[in-house]
Amino acid sequence: MRKKIVAGNWKMNNNLSETNELIAGLKNEMNSITLENTRVVIAPSFVNLQQAVVETKESSIEVSAQNLHQAKNGAYTGEISADMLASIGVDIVILGHSERRAYFNETDESLAEKVTTAIENGFDVIFCFGEQLEEREAENHFNVVESQLKNALFELSADAFDKIILAYEPVWAIGTGKTASADQAQEMHAFIRSLLAKAYNTELADSVSILYGGSVKPANAKEIFSKPDVDGGLIGGASLKAKDFSEIVKSI
Ligand code: 13P
Repeated sequence: MRKKIVAGNWKMNNNLSETNELIAGLKNEMNSITLENTRVVIAPSFVNLQQAVVETKESSIEVSAQNLHQAKNGAYTGEISADMLASIGVDIVILGHSERRAYFNETDESLAEKVTTAIENGFDVIFCFGEQLEEREAENHFNVVESQLKNALFELSADAFDKIILAYEPVWAIGTGKTASADQAQEMHAFIRSLLAKAYNTELADSVSILYGGSVKPANAKEIFSKPDVDGGLIGGASLKAKDFSEIVKSI
């Protein structure tokens, strides 16, 4: 059975004391939640990852990075390697977020390299993709998603998909308060599963968790998560409040 996952992408938010405070709040809220077949993940900024690993040790909360560099090591000023993350106990990474694609020029090609590096180092990858508003309005969203997945992921072996979590995040729904409807999410997730079945096989397609991201809030999470091909969410703004994030976890 594929896993349900609720992941909080903190983006560039929370200094050290805010990180401690939010984790303490989350642990407190999570005490009253029984999780079945569900992973709860938070992705603080690089500088606070080690602290987050320490603070979540006795809890069911897992810690993810928001990015890594594809090279093993070397002259890449300001970058962070898979080995550095692994050495502090982080083995999950978000790759391909639309903000990284838009502001830091990440391409399908560089993402394919990053995914390979992450998989080779034993990481779980939360791989983000999704269309822009104009692409949806032009009814080109299925083609866009298909090429993002093909270019970055479909050279991987079937075995690698044990470590891949997909996160469909339509760019027009990120941070806008404008969420895709539950039916729009389901339609795209079913399409994604059909692509996996075509590129690999139906068993693999059924085993991959596909998250929806884009303005998920306590008020809409239940409906979105009720769809058969939606296995959870990648949460931005609402993951910065312990109460909201745990309400979303309860909706799974
Ligand atoms: P919001 O939930 O703030 O729309 O952000 C979604 C997102 O980008 C998660 O990666």
